[in-house]
Amino acid sequence: MGRPWWQTAVLYQIYLRSFADSNDDGVGDLRGVIDRLDYLGWLGVDALWLSPVTVSPDRDWGYDVADYRSIQPAFGSLDDLDELVARARERDMRIVLDLVPNHTSDRHPWFGDARASRTARRRSYYVWADPNPDGSSPNNWRSTFGDGPAWEHSPETGQLYLHSFLPEQVDLDWWNEDVRDEFDDVMRFWLDRGIAGFRLDVAHAIVKDRELRDVPAAAQPGVRVDLDETYAVQRRWRALIDGCEGEPRVLIGETWVLELEALARFYGNGTDQLHLAFNFPFTFSPLEADALRDVVERTYDVLPPDAWPVWMLSNHDIERMATRLCGGDARKIKCALLALLTLRGTAVLYQGDEIGLEQVDVPRERLRDIAGRDGCRTPIPWTPDGGWREPWLPLGSTARNVAGQREDEASILRFVRDVVARRRQSEDLRSGAYASLVAPRGVWAYRRGRSTVVAINLSDERAEFEGRPLEPWEGAIL
Ligand code: NOJ
Repeated sequence: MGRPWWQTAVLYQIYLRSFADSNDDGVGDLRGVIDRLDYLGWLGVDALWLSPVTVSPDRDWGYDVADYRSIQPAFGSLDDLDELVARARERDMRIVLDLVPNHTSDRHPWFGDARASRTARRRSYYVWADPNPDGSSPNNWRSTFGDGPAWEHSPETGQLYLHSFLPEQVDLDWWNEDVRDEFDDVMRFWLDRGIAGFRLDVAHAIVKDRELRDVPAAAQPGVRVDLDETYAVQRRWRALIDGCEGEPRVLIGETWVLELEALARFYGNGTDQLHLAFNFPFTFSPLEADALRDVVERTYDVLPPDAWPVWMLSNHDIERMATRLCGGDARKIKCALLALLTLRGTAVLYQGDEIGLEQVDVPRERLRDIAGRDGCRTPIPWTPDGGWREPWLPLGSTARNVAGQREDEASILRFVRDVVARRRQSEDLRSGAYASLVAPRGVWAYRRGRSTVVAINLSDERAEFEGRPLEPWEGAIL
């Protein structure tokens, strides 16, 4: 009904290293994704968001980019990516890339140049400051990783540079027009190859306070952000993206804010900033009827009229929903995924959600991530033996695996596939309005569009909704 594809879409996040390994080197790769397109088509998802595929020394597993235009060799080549785009297209599936504009790797040639001297050509691509006379940092900003200052001493020139994350992830200075131009070019490079859009890393905090003023103590750890200017950069990107030839493209922001009012502002007037802004208040809501109804209603209320919500429950940074929200209980997992897929808005599945994959307790000696996020990044178990040869992270339990669940009509996977198919077929579910319905305690019920009703019993008691009995932790599309 004239809606752009990304509104009705189910997106599927691929954490490439752990998705599928085509050459048995223990690391997932682009060919692995090509090999699994049949599976993804069978599941019914519309687009794949790939976590960073570009060259990186992997201090933060791809989120420290050393070359924005080349593929990390372990993942394959540009040809492989082009082939993935083409082969996905044959199945009416799009590829969205992760873009990391907040910072580069310290190995990026821009920083190699910048750090060498105060007059270097790219010096002003980054944020520099003099230390205080006693050698300390210029303000109270603290980095998200580790518990130290967000400033690192650079011996070549005696100044400090800003890093919101690791010292090896150097913040770019988004006040600099040249930086803006560089990223316009990077975006065009990928858009010209048929990429359907970008998930924007750290989209809420791109532009820093120009005067480098302290942050209020309550905002720690963190850096002071100039939000108005961050919105201005988003408007620039939106204009670029919406100006593309052909099919609409999409910008999905990683907007890590915990207030819905703050989230709403990343949509601007509803059509001039981000197309989609990740809703962390929803992600972190408990799996309870009142809490979910409340955050969902408030989301619809607070977003500007033409804005479109996006719902997500897991990603590569947070504990998997199957464990965090559902304690591993298959009934609860189905309820949570039913809600995710039947709300008005774009739905994002993280790889493994569809089989109820649980957080893995990775032994200390096998941890690879500087922030210990490995447990949500472990490989997908494709078969009862996992289907991996010596994967880079341990597999964890393979009791829930893709092959087994494909055969089992009662599985989480078959349930998810059915709901995705229902969503595809139903105009109500794709785009109809949301309205909460009065329901017994513990039950969350809503109407979508004209006549589609979803009722989910998020309680340990049997319940009934409009004459339909609901077992504990049972949800249904009525
Ligand atoms: C958010 C990404 O999702 C996370 O994995 C990364 O560590 C930080 N941004 C820094 O890029």
